[in-house]
Amino acid sequence: LDNGLALTPAMGWLHWERFMCNINCDTDPHNCISENLYMQMADMMVKDGWKDAGYEYVCIDDCWPATSRDEQGRLQADPKRFPGGMKKLADYVHSKGLKLGIYADVGTKTCAGYPGSLGYYEVDAKTFADWGVDLLKFDGCYMPKWTLLAEGYINMSRALNSTGRSIFYSCEWPLYEWQYTQPNYTAIRQYCNHWRNYADVYDSWTSVKAILDWTANNQDLIVPAAGPGGWNDPDMLILGNFGLSLDQQVTQMALWAIMAAPLFMSNDLRDIDPKSKALLQNRYVIAINQDPLGKQGRRTAEVKNFEVWERLLSGGKLALAVINRQEIGGPRRFPLTLAMLPSWKFCNPQCNVTQILPSYQDMGTQKLTNMTEVPINPTGTVLLVVTPSAADHKLRKK
Ligand code: GLA
Repeated sequence: LDNGLALTPAMGWLHWERFMCNINCDTDPHNCISENLYMQMADMMVKDGWKDAGYEYVCIDDCWPATSRDEQGRLQADPKRFPGGMKKLADYVHSKGLKLGIYADVGTKTCAGYPGSLGYYEVDAKTFADWGVDLLKFDGCYMPKWTLLAEGYINMSRALNSTGRSIFYSCEWPLYEWQYTQPNYTAIRQYCNHWRNYADVYDSWTSVKAILDWTANNQDLIVPAAGPGGWNDPDMLILGNFGLSLDQQVTQMALWAIMAAPLFMSNDLRDIDPKSKALLQNRYVIAINQDPLGKQGRRTAEVKNFEVWERLLSGGKLALAVINRQEIGGPRRFPLTLAMLPSWKFCNPQCNVTQILPSYQDMGTQKLTNMTEVPINPTGTVLLVVTPSAADHKLRKK
């Protein structure tokens, strides 16, 4: 979507995977969906270096509204859980130098059963703009006919645009269309800044694996759609929760960088493992994710239960991720020979190689035919950046 936003994939925090539809503020005030939750996350984002690392949006997901609209037909926040109201919450988030995201649904109800926006797109867009909202995640549940999805998503895109406020538009349009037909990614890119293609992420390796497999299996269709202004969204980062081992967290981080994915964490920033935090704030990985060339990477080889993924970067560099998909045994050594890479010509005659994950390590100049064995833990990933370097004799000629 050409609205000046999403020139690189957006970064922030989104409540859904970690906090879901917890509305029990009486019994679980610390974790329920209330204004306190977002204020505390905003505080943490500034205090603990998240904002400095590039995380910018604090995003509300489902279950924020009251169960009915007000007399003027406007959505309203649940008065018990958001006593200050949304405008005040937006002001608070802005006062921290951050942006506020909200959630609504193209159909008659949100997925959790709260009021949907069908028939109210202009009203809701205006309400969000009046509150000072900076991003809308627009879900696709309860659409009476799936053939109306495209029209609904397009109309909301136009409604947001005509508010005059700059509002980031995050869609789930293709995810809901896939149940019936192959989505038209040219149209989706024209109207959305991000779009979800596949099932919700869960706090498990099974879920992360399934997302990677789906993405690779559909890359010919979806990769060309991504670029400055619009990006494929493989869903939230779940680092810092309960379901992923450290190696699997490395894999999610590395591959979300290769996929040029939005980096929306869903975790508890008030209580997060330092290793997860270091991964999420790793500036080299974030630089790959945010690379200004804006080309999404893709899976380029599968060999002996290793997967090779590559992403072209600006400045003539290449990011390379190798996943060890074997879930038995110990670390396996991947025989890295630049000449064996699908893009082997890239390093002709040699490249400078830097390992970014699991730890930073300068691997020096590697000739095209050199072989270095890189150990990779089961379900873990090694993330490298390779930079072509001219051979000495070529340099001398210049
Ligand atoms: C759908 C979306 C999720 C989340 C929930 C909320 O499942 O895909 O990301 O927004 O609805 O109910």
